[in-house]
Amino acid sequence: MRRLVAETSLEPRHLVLPMFIADGLTEPRAITSMPGVVQHTRESLRRAAVAAVDAGVGGLMLFGVPRDDDKDATGSVGIADDGVLNVALRDLAAELGDATVLMADTCLDEFTDHGHCGVLDDEGRVDNDATNARYVELAVAQANSGAHVIGPSGMMDGQVTAIRDGLDAAGHQDVAVLAYAAKFASGFYGPFREAVASSLEGDRRTYQQDPGNAREALHEIELDIAEGADMVMVKPAMAYLDVVRAAADISPVPVAAYQVSGEYAMISAAAANGWIDMRTVALETLTGIRRAGADIVLTYWAADVAGWLA
Ligand code: PBG
Repeated sequence: MRRLVAETSLEPRHLVLPMFIADGLTEPRAITSMPGVVQHTRESLRRAAVAAVDAGVGGLMLFGVPRDDDKDATGSVGIADDGVLNVALRDLAAELGDATVLMADTCLDEFTDHGHCGVLDDEGRVDNDATNARYVELAVAQANSGAHVIGPSGMMDGQVTAIRDGLDAAGHQDVAVLAYAAKFASGFYGPFREAVASSLEGDRRTYQQDPGNAREALHEIELDIAEGADMVMVKPAMAYLDVVRAAADISPVPVAAYQVSGEYAMISAAAANGWIDMRTVALETLTGIRRAGADIVLTYWAADVAGWLA
């Protein structure tokens, strides 16, 4: 009876697994603040990606972690053909073909020596328009490497238009754009900074949103849809379920929500203390995010959930 009348479904196909590929590792390196999540080598990434796809996850989102020495002010290693993220995209595109949706984080913070999501002007401020030009190069490099979906996560104004035009001009009309449309300046990204060995000092409040602003979030979502986004994202998820709901109510394109590193870490830590049951709470939070209206959920539990639901 419960199954017959259930209002909300949670299936592996709804879930996207974020994965980290690091340059210069000989074996996977644990991310201490995200128990169970690792920085992968090329080989371990291939194996884990195949396992996740076999388990039924809907897609993979890749983040690159270059060597510190390869970082520069403009994030060149993100664009380089032999940059770690582009190499990994080619590996997975060859291995998996169309068996999954291969997504790439299209941002500069993993690749810059200052750790900001964009290039800086003479006064050290993020230069919106110069950054968009760089995002186009990054997006084209990722599409050339086999990404099906480009995920601009830097919150620059006009980034979707710039990337869409750039992809089309490069012959990548079929590559889709998942816009991180409403991304809040959040403390929940803490463990991610360890995951990508971020060089950031300071914060991203000049380009990410104020946690109190829901109307502004909807404005950002509408702008990205008008600019040609194929999917829009709200991030983080659990503290912003009202924004997910509002986005789902107005969006003509699929809405994604990202259950970020700090959400994963918080639940993992409580579970490790025996205070809550991880599986129950992970499934409950993901069901809640779906109930709020997310079509797609990015979660570090994606592959585990696929196993639990099997
Ligand atoms: C930026 C980016 C971040 C995350 C995804 N893309 C970090 C940030 O904006 O500071 C966070 C993901 C997470 O916390 O799980 N490239």
